[in-house]
Amino acid sequence: MTEVNIVNIDNPFQDQKPGTSGLRKSTLKFQEEHYLEIFIEAIFNSLKDLRGSTLIVGGDGRYGNFDAIKKIIQICVAHKIGKVIVPKNGLLSTPATSHLIRIKKAIGGIILSASHNPGGIEGDFGVKLNISNGGPAPESITNQIFQCSQSLKSYKISKIKTPELDKLGIFTFGQTSVEIIDGVKDYSDLMENIFDLDQISDFLKKDFSLIFDAMNAVTGPYATNIFVEKMGLADSCVMNGVPLDDFGGLHPDPNLTYASKLADLLLIQKSYSFGAACDGDGDRNMILGKGCFVNPSDSLAVITANTNCVPGYKDGIAGVARSMPTSSAVDFVANALNIPCFETPTGWKFFGNLLDSNLISICGEESFGTGSNHVREKDGLWAVLYWLQILAVKNCTVSELIQKHWKQYGRNYYSRHDYEAIPSTIANQIFGKLASMLEHLKGNSFAGHLVKVADNFSYLDPVDNSMSENQGLRLVLDDNSRVIVRLSGTGTKGATLRLYFEKFFNPQQNLSLNPQIALKPLINDLDALLNISKLTQMENPTVIT
Ligand code: G1P
Ligand code: ZN
Repeated sequence: MTEVNIVNIDNPFQDQKPGTSGLRKSTLKFQEEHYLEIFIEAIFNSLKDLRGSTLIVGGDGRYGNFDAIKKIIQICVAHKIGKVIVPKNGLLSTPATSHLIRIKKAIGGIILSASHNPGGIEGDFGVKLNISNGGPAPESITNQIFQCSQSLKSYKISKIKTPELDKLGIFTFGQTSVEIIDGVKDYSDLMENIFDLDQISDFLKKDFSLIFDAMNAVTGPYATNIFVEKMGLADSCVMNGVPLDDFGGLHPDPNLTYASKLADLLLIQKSYSFGAACDGDGDRNMILGKGCFVNPSDSLAVITANTNCVPGYKDGIAGVARSMPTSSAVDFVANALNIPCFETPTGWKFFGNLLDSNLISICGEESFGTGSNHVREKDGLWAVLYWLQILAVKNCTVSELIQKHWKQYGRNYYSRHDYEAIPSTIANQIFGKLASMLEHLKGNSFAGHLVKVADNFSYLDPVDNSMSENQGLRLVLDDNSRVIVRLSGTGTKGATLRLYFEKFFNPQQNLSLNPQIALKPLINDLDALLNISKLTQMENPTVIT
């Protein structure tokens, strides 16, 4: 008989609301007594049919990962969960977790990660719940978890000695078995089924050099397995490939600011033909060519336009979806392919119903996230392999592929400006000002055009008819240019204000401008309207994409 302890607590969640991607807080907060345990208890209380079920538990290897997994195993034993599947060394990327949930028919998965936020004792930690379809828990469940976390006064735990995580094996504790598995194999096999790895490998060995930056986070072992062990490339094609609990001090967000070393290698030194990076938990990706940055919105459009190059999508695709702030580049491709294109709010969870109902096969966000129906999460390495497969089939460079795409469909100049960790009062003031002016702006002039739409985006889910409101302020002009303002839901310090700018140029116009120049009238007019640089006391945004 395994002993179950009931631990009484002073509830630590009185005024903590988890964000849209689960609970994300400082590492130190998670070190507080009972803090993690009470949230896990709330998750378990919100899942039906938990007893006897299978649960996947893993993380991106950041500080606290090991201890959290051990505590979760102890709580699982107390709740009589049938089987807990844990990856060796506790390392499991978010897309690999999604895949495992699906193939093991699990009730869900717990992902220990704060995604692209820094790690280590001074960084962040997080807990995400994915449900049985492999995707992030929908709002109905996260709301329930939040309600429960606020009122819980105790949690159940079995203080068993948990197995070490460095060896494969099966261990039994009362009615629960704990299975330590290889966290790379199933995902890597899935990639092998979707892509022709031999073709990619031949292409890369010819004269097309690859460098992949794992940013000292979870994708290192996956990339090494696929590129080095399966494709036979040199070890050196994976940089920062060993997961470290503080990511070696890197901020594991694959963009031009935080993956600056990689950006320098490709854009300034031009040392490689192709470069790519993934974030902390492996769901985001950045694609670079020699002297060429691929905007994630364009990446989604190129991926959609070239399904015929990839074995896994040869039979065509049902439809596509993009988040509202993502540029409309993919809409032009969908139109040409005569497939539906859905516009959803920001956040991967909104793609779940569309994927499950087979209304779409491919989806993406401007925030370096692309994915398909192969799992229910965005998938960084999948996107990298997808790009490499297109290039191998077409035998061309990244820059040639993207130029050709624009020549055919036109170019949606696009940029996102982030003002990170600013005081919440300032962020709310800027956001509130635009919100209060929407009615007045409609029909008036902005950046030399008439404002056609000025609203706060809302979304009616076509599958379950649920309504999501307040999903971002947007101005659409009479030439279909767009300006969008949102407040981030994933930051942990102060507030992060995101501004998005988009302007379409047809194939006869100049397609080789710097996006900041092409978008200048929109950027300047928004600043004039909302006084952003003055109020934030920042001459430039923290990150420009
Ligand atoms: C950000 C991105 C969003 C993404 C989310 C989780 O959310 O903008 O597209 O789905 O991270 O990776 P935000 O901080 O803007 O709320
Ligand atoms: Zn992530």
